[in-house]
Amino acid sequence: MQIIETISAMRGWSEAERRQNRLIAFVPTMGFLHEGHLCLVRAARKRGDRVVVSIFVNPTQFSPGEDFAGYPRNFARDHELLANENVDVLFHPAVEEIYPAGGQTHVDVEKLSLPLCGASRPGHFRGVATVVTKLFNIVLPHVAIFGEKDFQQLQIIRQLVRDLSMGVEIVGHPIVREPDGLAMSSRNSYLAPEERLAALCLSQSLCKAERLFRRGETYAPAIVRLVLSEIAKQPLAAVEYVKICDAQTLDELEEINRLAVLALAVRIGRARLIDNKTLRQ
Ligand code: PAF
Repeated sequence: MQIIETISAMRGWSEAERRQNRLIAFVPTMGFLHEGHLCLVRAARKRGDRVVVSIFVNPTQFSPGEDFAGYPRNFARDHELLANENVDVLFHPAVEEIYPAGGQTHVDVEKLSLPLCGASRPGHFRGVATVVTKLFNIVLPHVAIFGEKDFQQLQIIRQLVRDLSMGVEIVGHPIVREPDGLAMSSRNSYLAPEERLAALCLSQSLCKAERLFRRGETYAPAIVRLVLSEIAKQPLAAVEYVKICDAQTLDELEEINRLAVLALAVRIGRARLIDNKTLRQ
């Protein structure tokens, strides 16, 4: 596995692969890899002749007061995990390489960035959309794989690829969960043992909500109420939002009469956890 740290070397490698008609599949990450990331890498392997993974903790998607400096990092371990998955290139640029001084241009996916996580993390999705655009311009992938845990992020990236006419196919990968249901996330490492246990209220309340929906409940506020009352039983958990939205536009729904997503964000200790379930009739 090659490690590439500069934009010019990365682009040069990808251009050479493209000249050989090889399909490049790309998995952007912020490192501190877990099994969920490795599932994305394996999905990339199935879709591409070459697999590129980036590790870049993107400062612009952290709001002031968020966990940028303390975000978990372990490059040596990530390197070993990716080498074992036969990744072709690990792209690992420095912050100054991606954001040289004097930058003025940002990518804003305006409407989709407003609700859900966007409401409490101003600027977050602008940072994500900007860095993903940059990474696509550098890595030149044919296809890129993103986890569905960050459901809003995935919809925003689909929209930006459409809006900016980028020739990259976006593939969503189902949420990868621990055996007890907790959605895998690098931020799970923040959880103390009792918080880790409390964090099960996210996936468990989503499952209860899905059962209610399967039994015929289509009135969104009733399902949201159930989720809120389940999470309220857990004293260590503080709900940020629980919402049911149109899965594409992310407009909030009252009646679930089309493909919808039940999405939530909950704070447990210093971890802000998100999870979601697609509701399909
Ligand atoms: O999902 C993530 O890890 C990040 O938001 C991404 C897509 C790598 C952009 O920094």
